Amino acid sequence: MIVTDKIDEVRQHRWADPSLTWGFVPTMGYLHAGHLSLVQLSLAGNERTAVSIYVNPTQFAPTEDLSSYPRNLEGDLAMLEKAGVDLVFTPSDALMYPPGFQTTVSLSQVTQPLEGSSRPSHFTGVATIVAKLFNIVQPTRAYFGQKDAQQTIVLRQMVRDLNFNVEMVIGPTSREPDGLAMSSRNALLSAENRAAAPVLYRALSAARAAYEAGERSGELLRETMRGMITAVPQAKIDYVSAADPRTLEELDKVEEGVLLSTAVFFGKTRLIDNILIYASENTE
Ligand code: PAF
Repeated sequence: MIVTDKIDEVRQHRWADPSLTWGFVPTMGYLHAGHLSLVQLSLAGNERTAVSIYVNPTQFAPTEDLSSYPRNLEGDLAMLEKAGVDLVFTPSDALMYPPGFQTTVSLSQVTQPLEGSSRPSHFTGVATIVAKLFNIVQPTRAYFGQKDAQQTIVLRQMVRDLNFNVEMVIGPTSREPDGLAMSSRNALLSAENRAAAPVLYRALSAARAAYEAGERSGELLRETMRGMITAVPQAKIDYVSAADPRTLEELDKVEEGVLLSTAVFFGKTRLIDNILIYASENTE
């Protein structure tokens, strides 16, 4: 496995044989089974797989957890080597944002609600770094997790708008046995908050059950989630949402599908989760 922090070296390996397909899994490290499931999708669907490990400072607000974001480069590299990854890109801040850096990628609509309303600069940071990584790696396909539902919508829009020659593949959310969505941030939870956190998935599942039983009022679906989460004293709701899966506008009435999502604080740690329901199928 090649491990490099140099753009030239990434390009040299990427283009050594232009006939090969490359899958790419961008990450911020502290890898877990959710990341590995994306890596497995990439390994199965491409001749070569690249992973990036970079905790991108521009997607964190000054008040957020950049300095406490968990890191374990050695453990990550061992996992990726065992999985059979071909190349790992581990750039520095100085390489990604050199002095004089002044270009950003920002999207006007899908970035505004949900995560965007709580974290106004977040998606400009995400879109900018992913655009840079796509230009560096130039993958055939890129893999993202459904857990970050809005991120997948924002990045698909960016790929369409800026004509990136990359096929976007979204992998399902990986969950712990008690339903908690896998996330590097789970490592920051106290034992008490970890025990309380599965309420996110229970609340989303209850709203899905209500939908499946015929409930089509967006407000009643939101109320189902709100009621269950507020019953847990450790949980402080940032938002609950039943939104149009394309525009992310809150729905009064569900017609074609709904993205049920929530963001909840447990102490200082903010967790997100979602269930995507299309009229004919469910995707988690
Ligand atoms: O989902 C993440 O881990 C990050 O937002 C990403 C896509 C790697 C960009 O920093």
